[in-house]
Amino acid sequence: RMEVTETFAGISLPGHLHTQESLGFAATFPFRPTDVLIATYPKSGTTWMQEILTLLFSRGDAVPAKTIPNWERAPWLEQIYFRDALPAVAAPRLITTHLPARVLAPALQQSKAKVIYVARNPKDVAVSFYHFHRLAKFLPDPGSFDTFLTWFLEGTVHYGSWFDHVKGWLGQRQLLDIIYVTYEELHQDLRGTAQRLSTFLGCPLGPETLGALEQHCSFAAMRDNAMANYSLIPPEIMDHSQGCFMRKGVVGDWRDHFSPLQNALFNRRYQEEMGDSELPGTPHPWG
Ligand code: PPS
Repeated sequence: RMEVTETFAGISLPGHLHTQESLGFAATFPFRPTDVLIATYPKSGTTWMQEILTLLFSRGDAVPAKTIPNWERAPWLEQIYFRDALPAVAAPRLITTHLPARVLAPALQQSKAKVIYVARNPKDVAVSFYHFHRLAKFLPDPGSFDTFLTWFLEGTVHYGSWFDHVKGWLGQRQLLDIIYVTYEELHQDLRGTAQRLSTFLGCPLGPETLGALEQHCSFAAMRDNAMANYSLIPPEIMDHSQGCFMRKGVVGDWRDHFSPLQNALFNRRYQEEMGDSELPGTPHPWG
């Protein structure tokens, strides 16, 4: 493992991708009014949203999605390569982040940039994140699923607590030009969500674009797209023998991983942290 950790605003981040300088740059980034920021906790549908917005902005032309790696199409604001990547990003600039709202809210509130927050059932996030830790050599060895779940619920995993992340971004509802989308909603109704996004972004979506988007953003198409599936990342950073980034792409895989006890502990913690808070504008699927 090439595990080096950077700490910023009370959270741990992979040290080979982040420095105090890159994180400081992100926190004071001068957003343009036309910028579109995808904000997510890890494993919540980031890559899927990058692909959907690529197809929406290209009006259904699959060439950019098939020829440019997603980290160049929608670079990560907080990562060390961001400043070098930015000049090549076409307008409207698509930018990605895992940072919590408390870090980015000041810069965003001073701008008119649009924010798309994607959230996923945290039980499925925990499962996906666990499997990702096994292949990502820049993250700590997750040990057993039970150990990992303890870290996840404590919020000591990289990128911090899922609960803080979601609550922080939900708290920006009245303060930013922000839309909330769930991974489950993308599954249930990709067309409807793409239409909602097109209205939010003021980007027209004709029937042909919608067809191309649906085809290109399917799990199978993205799994086979080297520009989206992270197969280009060298094996010392991602050990592809441990599994694929595009792992399963389903809703409810937690049922095959959680014991009844783990589920009870999770539910209790969820209730303590989240109460009855809902994601505005989306069906609340987690119950
Ligand atoms: S990351 O590392 O934070 O950028 O990961 P992220 O992209 O947010 O999440 C990865 C999970 O999303 C799944 N995925 C998809 N599911 C369904 N359809 C499509 N098109 C799709 N693209 C990515 C991916 O498989 C990961 O989930 P799991 O449950 O591990 O399969």
